[in-house]
Amino acid sequence: MASYLVTGGAGFIGSHVVEALVAGGERVRVVDDLSTGRRENLRHIDGVDFVVGDLADPAVADGAVDGIDYVIHLAALPSVPGSIKDPLTWNRANVTGTLSLLVAAQRYAVKRFVFASSSSVYGNAATLPVREDMLPKPLSPYALQKLTGEQYLRLFYELHGLETVSVRYFNVFGPRQDPASPYSGVISLFARCLVEDRAPNIHGDGEQTRDFTYVRNVVDGTLRACVSPGAAGQVCNVSCGGRVSLNTLFRTMRAMTESRVEPKYTEPRVGDVRDSQADITRAKELLGYEPTVFLEEGLETTIAWCRVRTR
Ligand code: NAD
Ligand code: UD1
Repeated sequence: MASYLVTGGAGFIGSHVVEALVAGGERVRVVDDLSTGRRENLRHIDGVDFVVGDLADPAVADGAVDGIDYVIHLAALPSVPGSIKDPLTWNRANVTGTLSLLVAAQRYAVKRFVFASSSSVYGNAATLPVREDMLPKPLSPYALQKLTGEQYLRLFYELHGLETVSVRYFNVFGPRQDPASPYSGVISLFARCLVEDRAPNIHGDGEQTRDFTYVRNVVDGTLRACVSPGAAGQVCNVSCGGRVSLNTLFRTMRAMTESRVEPKYTEPRVGDVRDSQADITRAKELLGYEPTVFLEEGLETTIAWCRVRTR
C-alpha cells in the first residue's frame, strides 16, 4: 500500500482519481480549498484523510506532503475565461500553488510528482493532431500558467532529481463536473440545459473542435504516470485522440436527451482555441495508456448522472 496526496481531490477529476485509488487499496490524503470543489464529491468514499487548505500557502503545502509517496497535483482554477478576467487570482492558485507544492515535495523526497497540465498550452497549433514536441503558444493566462507549471516540474527534475510527470489533459467530461458555474466545461453545461429543456449557448459558429475525453481515461493515464518507469521528467498528452465540433456535440446530446431546443449562438469567446486534437502515441509508449471509454458512451453516462442530479 502506498500513500497518495491528491490535491484538488474534492473537484471533478480529483474525486474520480480518489475513488480509483481507494478502490485499489491505496492510502489517500486530499488537500482542497473548496474554491470550486465540493465535499460531497467524496462523501461516498470511506477512509480519505481530508484537509481543507490553500496550497499557495507554503505551510499548507508542507503539511500536505509530509508522509506521502506520490503527489497527484490537480488543484487549480480550471476556467480559461476566468483567468482572462482575473489573472492574479488564477496565477496564485495555478502557479504559486504548484511551486509551493514542488518545494515541499522536494523537501520530503516524494517518489513522484504528477501534474495535471492542459492541451490549452498548444494554442492554435499549425497542424493537428498536436504532439508534445511542438512549440507551445498559450492564448490565455490559464494556458500560460499550466505551461509555467510544466516548466517548474522539468526544472525540479533536472536541478533536484525530483521525479516529475506532466500529463496534458484534453477537455475532460463526466459525472461530478459541476454545471452550476457558467465557467464549467461545455458538456456539463449542455447536459444541464438539455435535461431542463433550456437552450444552451454556443460561442461563435460552433465549428470549433475538441478532443473530448471521458474522465475514466484520464484517471487511468494519471495513475499510470505515477508508476511507469520511463515517464520521469516527461510531458504526455492524455486524451481519446479524436475531435468533434460543438455543433455535432450539441446535435448528438440533443438526440440522446430527445430534446428539441435550438442553441443560442453568441459572440466567440476571447482566448478560445479553435481546434484541439491530441496525438497520444507518447502516452501509449511511455505509460501503456489506451483510452477505453469513447464519446458516446461517456455522454450517455454523463447525461444519466445529470438527470438524477437535477431531479
Ligand atoms: P475542478 O475545479 O473540479 O477541480 C479543481 C480543484 O482544485 C477544486 O476542488 C478546487 O477547490 C481545488 N483548488 C483550487 N485552487 C486551490 C488551492 N489554491 N488550494 C487547494 N485546492 C484548490 O476542476 P477539474 O476539471 O477537476 O480539473 C482538475 C485539474 O485538471 C486542474 O488542474 C485543471 O486545470 C486540469 N485540467 C482539467 C481539464 C478539464 O477539461 N476539466 C482539462 C485539462 C486540465
Ligand atoms: C477546458 C477546461 C480547461 C482545460 C482545457 C483543455 C474547463 C472549465 N476548462 O477548456 O481546464 O485545460 O479544456 O483541455 O473544464 N463553449 C460554448 N458554450 C458554453 C461553454 C463553452 O460554446 O456554454 C465553447 C467554448 O467557447 C469552447 C468550447 O466550448 O470553444 C469548450 O469550452 P470549455 O468547456 O470551457 O473548455 P476549454 O476552454 O476548451
